[in-house]
Amino acid sequence: MFHIEVGNTSSLKFLEELIGLERATFKKNDSWADGELEQMSKKRNCIVAVARLVADGKLCGYVLCTSTGLNLHVSKIAVRADCRRQGIAKGLMQAVLRMAANQRRSSSSTLHVALDNEPAVQLYRSLGYKEDGLLEDYYTPGRHAYKMICDLEPYKGASEGGLALPATNGRKR
Ligand SMILES: CC(C)(COP(=O)(O)OP(=O)(O)OC[C@H]1O[C@@H](n2cnc3c(N)ncnc32)[C@H](O)[C@@H]1OP(=O)(O)O)[C@@H](O)C(=O)NCCC(=O)NCCS
Repeated sequence: MFHIEVGNTSSLKFLEELIGLERATFKKNDSWADGELEQMSKKRNCIVAVARLVADGKLCGYVLCTSTGLNLHVSKIAVRADCRRQGIAKGLMQAVLRMAANQRRSSSSTLHVALDNEPAVQLYRSLGYKEDGLLEDYYTPGRHAYKMICDLEPYKGASEGGLALPATNGRKR
């Protein structure tokens, strides 16, 4: 079971946890552990949602976004390898999309994802994102990305528009 919090905190302990999960998830070339994560999380328009295990309070997932008023750009999402396929990423994404739609009045959300990242592409499609173009050589030569976009209308007025979801909204398989 996990619970989700949405907000923007830049406390040292929180950042250390975030960087730890970033390092464990992404290869060096794709990792923002060496400064970018810290820089981004300190920006005023950054929205972070984190998932913590109810059992021990440890961080098991996060999503990092930039809110530019009408649009929410999702930059990074990661779930601890041993906690995947339990709905954590979906819960994190729904929390930030609802917050953007209801509290920031955003009408769309965008992101970039590697063509070969099937778990992430499927996750985004399940949330309503659609392909909106191809960014050739986006990551490295030959490694392309989809631009994806999601209409936030269905997220408006959705029940969990606030800063925190119930403490036990996770599902276990
Ligand atoms: C992508 C990632 C965040 C998904 O996290 P997760 O918590 O396992 O995802 P969820 O359990 O919420 O899955 C929600 C939906 O996404 C899709 N999905 C997730 N993992 C999948 C996989 N391995 N294969 C196919 N579809 C997958 C499914 O549609 C799933 O719904 P279902 O379980 O009912 O079939 C996770 O795999 C991860 O951290 N990957 C490494 C980091 C990364 O690539 N981040 C994205 C780019 S920044």
